[in-house]
Amino acid sequence: MKIISHRGASGYAPENTVKSFKLAVEMGSKDFEFDVHQTKDGILVVHHDYDFKPTAGREARIADLSYAELKKINVAAHFKKDPAFQCVPRLEEVLDIIGPGAQWLNFEVKNDDNIYPGIEEKLLAFLKSKPGMLEKSLISSFDHGTLKRFRELSNEIRLGYLGHGLSTMLLLPAIKKARAVRAVNFHMALRIAFKLNVRKIKKYGFQVCIYTVNTKKDALRMKEIGVDGIFTNYPDIMEK
Ligand code: G3P
Ligand code: MG
Repeated sequence: MKIISHRGASGYAPENTVKSFKLAVEMGSKDFEFDVHQTKDGILVVHHDYDFKPTAGREARIADLSYAELKKINVAAHFKKDPAFQCVPRLEEVLDIIGPGAQWLNFEVKNDDNIYPGIEEKLLAFLKSKPGMLEKSLISSFDHGTLKRFRELSNEIRLGYLGHGLSTMLLLPAIKKARAVRAVNFHMALRIAFKLNVRKIKKYGFQVCIYTVNTKKDALRMKEIGVDGIFTNYPDIMEK
């Protein structure tokens, strides 16, 4: 079972920052998940939310700011254990840190309602420009239109269906949608990660990864029921 660092080692350092990715690498992570957005001037950056309310207490949205404006914001402000200034990293900076030693890179593209038109082309071009990167990359998104556009643009890119508000009842329609874009992975919340659900999804040939698993007890249960990977804020979760 893959132990996927979620937004870096975000249990120990401010999420999706250079600090959290460096720490994840130091802790031995080989599998990574992070969230991708695009600034007003077209720079790909890594941050979880569309705005800075949760990280910096600021209403401003990434889509409305240039990178020069956005990098003045302290996205570590919310992290009580270590609020020292950290700016939103560019995707390129993150990949410079985690890319060389990575086995698996999950780019979660945040693009609800196509807020970042053209992000698909831009990300694909970026992945293709880095030797060896495309092969170890997987793109996921809560936004189905985004996954569809990635598939239209590329036959080879590996896609992950990302279930939102799923329930056991809604699993089959979700599997259908995942198959429609030829996704290879199916990612869903811990809340519905039960043995029968995992078995059902795997029957269709998907790798199943579960978010967000932050206790060893849950991690061991996921392993037991045949999950392929867990997203965790604690890369050392199995050693706890
Ligand atoms: O990609 C898995 C997980 O990160 C999805 O949820 O909200 O943490 O980005 P979220
Ligand atoms: Mg995410």
